[in-house]
Amino acid sequence: MKPRFLDFFAGSGLVTQGLKRHFAPVWANDICERKRAIYVANHGEGHFSLGSIAGVRGVDLPTADLAWASFPCQDLSLAGKMGGLDAARSGLVWEWLRVLDEMHERPSVLAVENVAGLVSGRGGQDYRLIHQALVDRGYIVGPMLLDAVDWLPQSRPRVFIIAVNAGVNVDDITDWSPNWSHPTSVRNAAKGLDHLVWWRVPKPPTRTSKLSDVVDFRANRDAAAVSAHNVRLIPEHHWNALERLACSGSVVVPGYRRTRNGRQCLELRFDGVAGCLRTPEGGSSKQILVFADPHSVETRFLTTREAAALMGAPKRYKLPGSSNDGYKAMGDGVAVPVVAHLAKHLLKPLALRTMTALQA
Ligand SMILES: C[S@@+](CC[C@H](N)C(=O)[O-])C[C@H]1O[C@@H](n2cnc3c(N)ncnc32)[C@H](O)[C@@H]1O
Repeated sequence: MKPRFLDFFAGSGLVTQGLKRHFAPVWANDICERKRAIYVANHGEGHFSLGSIAGVRGVDLPTADLAWASFPCQDLSLAGKMGGLDAARSGLVWEWLRVLDEMHERPSVLAVENVAGLVSGRGGQDYRLIHQALVDRGYIVGPMLLDAVDWLPQSRPRVFIIAVNAGVNVDDITDWSPNWSHPTSVRNAAKGLDHLVWWRVPKPPTRTSKLSDVVDFRANRDAAAVSAHNVRLIPEHHWNALERLACSGSVVVPGYRRTRNGRQCLELRFDGVAGCLRTPEGGSSKQILVFADPHSVETRFLTTREAAALMGAPKRYKLPGSSNDGYKAMGDGVAVPVVAHLAKHLLKPLALRTMTALQA
């Protein structure tokens, strides 16, 4: 029997996709109708509840071994205004805790996910608030920072906080001191906290996939005038680097339109990975791909399918709705192989030992 999980802030279901090999989804919630459409197209609608978490009553939820919460990041992201957990959107984490408090029995394993600003912003205080709130509820707690780039050609560092009922023996899956998943930002935010554990999960094997592996080379490129306009936005040093690369063959590199010193520019990356996918709500535009060879340079936006591949969604993952809906949903999601890695190496072992403890 698989352990059961609740997917809070379930969005388009990428967390469910990453967990479902090891856990059975028994309830999922999100406020967004468009993301719901993607979720139910892939995972069925029987367990999806559409609406604000503010209207969810814990007593109505099914029992579960794990609750996952990827709560909104806008107030924690460095691109946002950094209102932190006091602000309306990221403050929804308190609604999540309220719902857990109302349950007949809280799940024995909890997972919280958010942007790196959760540990690095506001002197780490937002992390410490969540840590203490979980400790107050009888959990031992460990933060980690995992970057999807270790699995996929997308740079996407994210904080994961994993908590389990105190009293469960975790000696074999924790280290005495921080390891590769605990960079300085995590160590600083967690310094001196009680009931802190340093989870130990294996590093994934070296990634072999590159950005060019997810690019659809048949997709239509921009009209010549649009490509030329985009090319004019490329800063000189990036243009020179692109020319050097393209003189020996075809290349594709990603770029973001940004405003620097009041001027729009198209900044490129040359490390073979895409920048972090974001939602247009954060004020950032879609990522652009630049295709260059010795004779020509063309551009186009990243397609929704490419965005899904960069999140590790399987090729068969359905994306109903407009391409903007799909792009937004992917930009807001959690990278599937990172969730699956945590599920296999940490969440499932924790859930199984708490289930066994219950049966004993
Ligand atoms: C970071 S995203 C979660 C992504 C999702 N776990 C996935 O992997 O696709 C945060 C989600 O919170 C949802 N949300 C925002 N306000 C909400 C509210 N009041 N109640 C429930 N969900 C809300 C958003 O629609 C968004 O899908």
